[in-house]
Amino acid sequence: MKDTDPREQPSPFIVFAHWFHEHSTRTSSKYPGACVLSSVGTDGVPNARFISLKVLEYPYLIFGSPLRSRKAIEIKENHNVALTFWWEDSMRQVRIQGIASETDENTSDLLFGDRKKEARVVSLVSEQGAALPSWEILRERYRTMFEELSDEKIERPDHWGGFKVEPFRFEFMEFRETRLHYRQVFSKKEGGWEMNLIQP
Ligand SMILES: Cc1cc2nc3c(=O)[nH]c(=O)nc-3n(C[C@H](O)[C@H](O)[C@H](O)COP(=O)(O)O)c2cc1C
Repeated sequence: MKDTDPREQPSPFIVFAHWFHEHSTRTSSKYPGACVLSSVGTDGVPNARFISLKVLEYPYLIFGSPLRSRKAIEIKENHNVALTFWWEDSMRQVRIQGIASETDENTSDLLFGDRKKEARVVSLVSEQGAALPSWEILRERYRTMFEELSDEKIERPDHWGGFKVEPFRFEFMEFRETRLHYRQVFSKKEGGWEMNLIQP
C-alpha cells in the first residue's frame, strides 16, 4: 500500500482481506476476528463491545449474535455501526463504518453450525443481556443440556442469528512508533470508491 500512486489504489475490500489474512495466518492470535463493534444506543449514547468477525463475503463483513441482545436491538433501531480492528503484530488499525442488517436464515445456520458445542449450548440456555437471578441455576441448566444433547441435535434457536455489515467508509492506518502514521481513507461514492490520504 505504501508509496503508490493514489489513483491506482486497490479496492478497500482487497486491502482489508489482505491485511486480515496476514493477521489471521501470521500471528498466534486465538481470536483473529476480534474487533470492536460500535452501535448507536437507543438512548443515543454510543455503545461498544468486542465481537468476532467470522465471514468476509463481498460486500459484507459478517458476525454471529443472539437476536434479542442489546446490540441486536440497537442495530434494528439504527443500522449505522462501526467496526474497529487493532492488529499489534503488524501495527495496523482498521476503522470501518457501515450499515448492518440481519443475515438470511441460511447464513445464520452456517454461523451457528460453526460454533463449538459449548457455545451452541450457551445460546440455548442463555438470554444474552437479560437479568440473571441465579448463576447456579444457569450453570445447572447448561450442564444438563450439555449432557442431554448430542452434538448434531443442537439446532439454531430462532433468537440466534447474524449481522452483515456493508461498509461505506474504511480507514487503514499503519501505526508508526514516531507517530508519523500512514492513513488512507476510502469513501464510497456513486460508481466507486474515493481514496484520500489524511494526516497522522
Ligand atoms: C474476543 C471477544 C469476541 C466476542 N465475540 C462475540 C460475537 O461474535 N458475538 C457476540 O454476540 N458476542 C461476542 N462477544 C461478547 C460481546 O463482547 C458482548 O459481551 C455480548 O455480545 C453482549 O453485548 P450486547 O449486550 O451489547 O449485545 C465477544 C467478546 C469478546 C471479548
